[in-house]
Amino acid sequence: MTVECGLVSNRCSLPQARPAISTCAAVVTACIVATLVLVGAGGLANAQPASTDKKPTRPERTAAERADAARQLREVYRGDPANWPAPHVDPGVEWKEIGLLPPVVHPESNPLSQGKVTLGKALFHDARLSASGKIACVSCHEPNLGWADGRVVSQPHARALGRNTPTIRNVAYQSLLFWDGRASTLEQQVEEAITDSAEMAASDDHVVNVLSESPGYRKLYADAFPGRPIEFAQVLEAVACFERTVVGGRSRFDDFMRGNAAALSDEELLGLDLFRRDARCMHCHHGPIFSDGRFHDLGLSFYGRSNADSGRYGVTGVAADNGRFRTPSLRDVTRTRPLMHNGMFGLTGVLNMYNAGMVTLKRPASQEDDPVFPVKSPLLKPLGLNRQDLADLAAFLGALREPRHRERPPALPEIDGAGDTAER
Ligand code: HEC
Ligand code: HEC
Repeated sequence: MTVECGLVSNRCSLPQARPAISTCAAVVTACIVATLVLVGAGGLANAQPASTDKKPTRPERTAAERADAARQLREVYRGDPANWPAPHVDPGVEWKEIGLLPPVVHPESNPLSQGKVTLGKALFHDARLSASGKIACVSCHEPNLGWADGRVVSQPHARALGRNTPTIRNVAYQSLLFWDGRASTLEQQVEEAITDSAEMAASDDHVVNVLSESPGYRKLYADAFPGRPIEFAQVLEAVACFERTVVGGRSRFDDFMRGNAAALSDEELLGLDLFRRDARCMHCHHGPIFSDGRFHDLGLSFYGRSNADSGRYGVTGVAADNGRFRTPSLRDVTRTRPLMHNGMFGLTGVLNMYNAGMVTLKRPASQEDDPVFPVKSPLLKPLGLNRQDLADLAAFLGALREPRHRERPPALPEIDGAGDTAER
């Protein structure tokens, strides 16, 4: 039996700030641990399979059996979701049906306006906002890379962020932002991205000056905020307002949900059903964006190692939050590789690890009484899926892919280097 670990192979060659050797060692360990669990070999000192009752692999089906199953599923799933089979979700877990994205609700404090969107879009693309003059939001959130950057962890600016860049598509639907949920509004998130030393490292005065010194920006600003002086808070509102317009909903899954029963292949339909039921994904990836917006520990925090990331714990200080990360949306997930908060995995590897119930780290004696030792989510269990099932699941995730987004970057307003202070 061969098992693809799926770890992103260029991890160790990237010029990141962390000590290369321990990072590589950790990567290799994770791979070995995952692989051992998968092949059922067990026995590695610090790892054990997720559950002692390892689930036997389901028997594979013939082509005719699969076609028959798909035909029946198509009849069921082409109808009203209210009549779909109930998802497999443990008692007590709240869930919402997957489906079409509802219209975005813009907050009352920052209502939608074309003026703000136009200004916000220009600012999103403008590296002159950053302290170095070289980095813009779009440097890490590129429309043609699924609004992410395709890197393992984000490029270091002043220092490495050490986390994988998430897409900003559909971010309007999330209530807590970042992998650890530390921002509760998009306005707050934009402020952090502009001022954080790891991102654009700019001061609010710098940003206000850039706009004030540009006749073009003064005009865009006046259209967005008529009669108001240029202030940092409004700049944040404009970028946030633009971000709320970056919305998906054009995948083949959406097409299927809008009534085109032929939009999904047999494989993808079998995958949809697995996703909702036998693969247990709906416990956390549910609702129109395929995310519960909550925090879970999948056993990937590397606790106790040099590349450990405490996730939500770093925000709340609550012991149970150690190693928990916000469930990401799965829309367009095949385009926002590499995956997970640390960008260490590919899709095949992720699916293999879920099938094994993820990895449970056994406490070494030195951490026996450690009150913050991360505890993997009890919702993760060995699934017993066979190769066909895993391929079907992957196919379904592929059907969440958005059509490629092509757009010309906006023309950026000129900045008068002399600084026209008289008009400020
Ligand atoms: C140096 C690369 C970089 C730059 C520049 C950057 N980001 Fe990010 N962005 C990231 C990374 C990495 C994360 C995840 C950080 C975390 O979760 O701790 C992130 C997270 C986000 C999120 C949260 C997404 C979610 O699902 O919660 C949004 C929204 C976002 N960035 C928008 C912006 C905007 C707007 C700008 C410009 C003002 C910007 N970013 C600039 C790398 C970058
Ligand atoms: C217990 C909750 C939970 C369950 C069950 C679950 N996931 Fe996840 N999923 C998460 C969380 C949390 C993350 C991010 C973890 C991290 O980065 O450390 C994640 C990440 C992912 C990613 C990577 C996305 C990205 O953009 O990096 C994929 C793909 C994924 N899950 C697919 C699935 C599939 C398919 C299933 C069912 C087999 C599933 N998940 C079951 C919570 C869950």
